[in-house]
This record gives sequence, structure tokens and C-alpha cells, in this order.
Amino acid sequence: MPTLVTGGAGYIGSHACQRLLRDGHQVIALDNLFRGHRAPMDLLSHAYPRQFSFVHADVGDTEAVTAAINEHEIDTVMHFGALAYVGESVEDPLWYYRNNIAMGIGLLDACDQAHDGRGISRFIFSSSCATYGDPPEGMIPVPENCPQSPTSPYGYTKLHFEHILKDYATKRQREDNPIALTMLRYFNVAGSDRTGMLGEDHTPETHLIPVGIDAATGKRDSMSIFGTDYPTPDGTCIRDYVHVEDLVDAHARAMERVQIGEVQAFNVGIGKGYSVREILDSIKRVSGVDFAVHETDRRAGDAIALYNDPTKIKATLGWDAQITDIDEIVTTAYTWLKGHPNGYAT
Ligand SMILES: NC(=O)c1ccc[n+]([C@@H]2O[C@H](COP(=O)([O-])OP(=O)(O)OC[C@H]3O[C@@H](n4cnc5c(N)ncnc54)[C@H](O)[C@@H]3O)[C@@H](O)[C@H]2O)c1
Repeated sequence: MPTLVTGGAGYIGSHACQRLLRDGHQVIALDNLFRGHRAPMDLLSHAYPRQFSFVHADVGDTEAVTAAINEHEIDTVMHFGALAYVGESVEDPLWYYRNNIAMGIGLLDACDQAHDGRGISRFIFSSSCATYGDPPEGMIPVPENCPQSPTSPYGYTKLHFEHILKDYATKRQREDNPIALTMLRYFNVAGSDRTGMLGEDHTPETHLIPVGIDAATGKRDSMSIFGTDYPTPDGTCIRDYVHVEDLVDAHARAMERVQIGEVQAFNVGIGKGYSVREILDSIKRVSGVDFAVHETDRRAGDAIALYNDPTKIKATLGWDAQITDIDEIVTTAYTWLKGHPNGYAT
């Protein structure tokens, strides 16, 4: 199925492109390269010259996106293209709302107008567990019907876009031209493709696993734990880490199994939480380096514990995480980052 992958030059988007290409699909990656990289696009073009192409454009450029959809007869859009840092969104919320919502509406206009007004048939959106904020008692592990109450502008951009998408799907239903809409709320995504072709290269990097690996490889002198007095067994926050290849498998399944006319939301996480200390211990085990860790105060807005209840995605999409051992997840990240000390610029 010809698929448009927005944010395809980013961390998760590039892994999604790779998975779709392996499955034999035609893939068009679209990215403005603000945070993404040309190198994975070149690598994928080289590996799949007849199936893959890259469009350098903004998702909000309706004309360029419509042209790409029409030219490549795109039926499915996977929308990864967004700004994705909580802290940055607190500092500059308008930038986040403009990029993740206003530009996203530009993309939806293209999805609506393409194919002589018939529009595309399937839309899969990268939402986030950040839409849940700090879940109320009794809601951890987090099911999809947990109240959505974000604690950051970033989380709100994801929640608002979910609402916009649902309204759009309702319009298409009313016009007797329904769409298959899937919203995937990811927990923390980690690791790299196990062939070593693609990796995680964020600037700035704020995710715990790559930051810890940077400390292990000497790229940073040390790293910090924000808060060691949380009501958890070791005092640090607990999160659910899903391997990026398992995550993109959820997209492939959603593309196959969510039917035209359906609107579905699924959480994507392994269903098990690891504390910050457990992650750092894993990085130390995998790397063999005992790097310095500073314990500092809590950071505003960090939920105590967030991990998924995977019941719905297992039952509906038949999805289950294949890589759940934290050392295995960390090893894939470590191997790529050690071999690419300057990311894709190496
Ligand atoms: N990484 C995680 O743990 C995580 C967790 C939950 C949700 N998500 C979501 O998954 C998606 C991908 O995240 P990622 O970690 O790969 O981030 P990333 O920054 O590596 O990738 C995002 C890509 O989108 C591109 N982009 C941003 N705005 C754009 C625009 N207006 N037009 C065109 N391209 C644009 C960037 O250049 C970048 O290549 C994001 O939507 C993010 O919110 C990520």
C-alpha cells in the first residue's frame, strides 16, 4: 500500500519507513528536516531504490503534501511529524501549538483534498501517553479509557489533535466516504533497529536511555536523576519503555487491521514499568562503565509512574511486545550510539 510517512527523517518515522519497506510497501517520507536527518533517507533510498522516496516539505504545506499524495497514489498516512519535547513546549507553547496543530491541519486539508476530493483512506497518528498527564489512583497500569488530562502544552497538542482527527473522521462518515483512523498513544520509545542501519539521533537529547549512554561513552561527564523521593520502591519515577521495532509493528498492524469506518485509540507500551535507577543500572551493565550520577530535585510535571495496560491492543491488533528485557532494549541503543558518537554525522 503506498504510504506517506510524515516526520520520516526522524527517529521513529525512519524506523517506520524501514518496516514498511521490508513489508514490500511503497513509502514516501516527508519531513522539513528541522529535527530529522538526511542520512537515514539516503540509507533507505540506497537499500530500497524502487520503493522509497523522500519529499523535503513541511506537513503544513498543503499544496506540496497534496501533490505528493496524488503523484504517489497514497492511500495511508502515518503522521509522526511533530515537535516532541515537554520542556520546550512549556517554554514556547505557541510554537508547539502552531507546529503540531496548525501545521497538522494543513496536512489534514491535503488528506481531504487529494484524489480529486475523495481523500485518503487511512490515517495513523502518533499520540502519546503525555495525553494522560498524571493518571488518577487505580488507573495504573494505564488503560485507554483513563481520563486524558495533560500536564504540558506538548500533551495538549497531542490531545487536541486527537479531537480534531475524530471530528474529521465523523465528517467523512457523514459524507459516506469513511476513513480508518488510528491514534497510537506511545509510552517511552527506545532502542534502535537491530541491523544497525538506523538509530536515535536527537538534538537536543532529553530521553533517559540515550542520555545515560552518553554518560557511559564519555560524551557527557555525568547525568542527573530528577527526584529520588517519589513513592516508588527505589524513590525514582517509573516508565514503560517500548522498543522502536515493536512500536512500528503496532503501526503495521493498525494499517492492516483497523477497518474503514473505524476510529480506534490504542496505548503502545510493554505493560511493565522500569524505574530511573533500574534503567541506569541496565546502561551500566550493558556498557560495563560505572558513570557518575547526580541526585537532584524533582522536575515539575513528572508523573510518578506511567506504564501501559496492553489488554486492548493485544486483543484487537494481536500486538504484543517482543523485546521486553530492558538490557536487550538498551543494548540495541548502546550498539548504535557507540558506533555513531556524533549520531548520523559520524
Ligand atoms: N520518542 C518518544 O518516546 C515518543 C513518545 C510518544 C510520542 N512520540 C511522538 O512520535 C513522533 C515521532 O517522535 P520522534 O521521537 O521520532 O521525534 P523526532 O524529532 O526524531 O522526529 C520528528 C520528525 O518530525 C519532523 N517534523 C517536525 N515538525 C514538522 C513539520 N511541521 N513538517 C515536517 N516535518 C516535521 C522533524 O524534522 C523530525 O524529523 C512525534 O509525533 C512524537 O510526538 C514520541
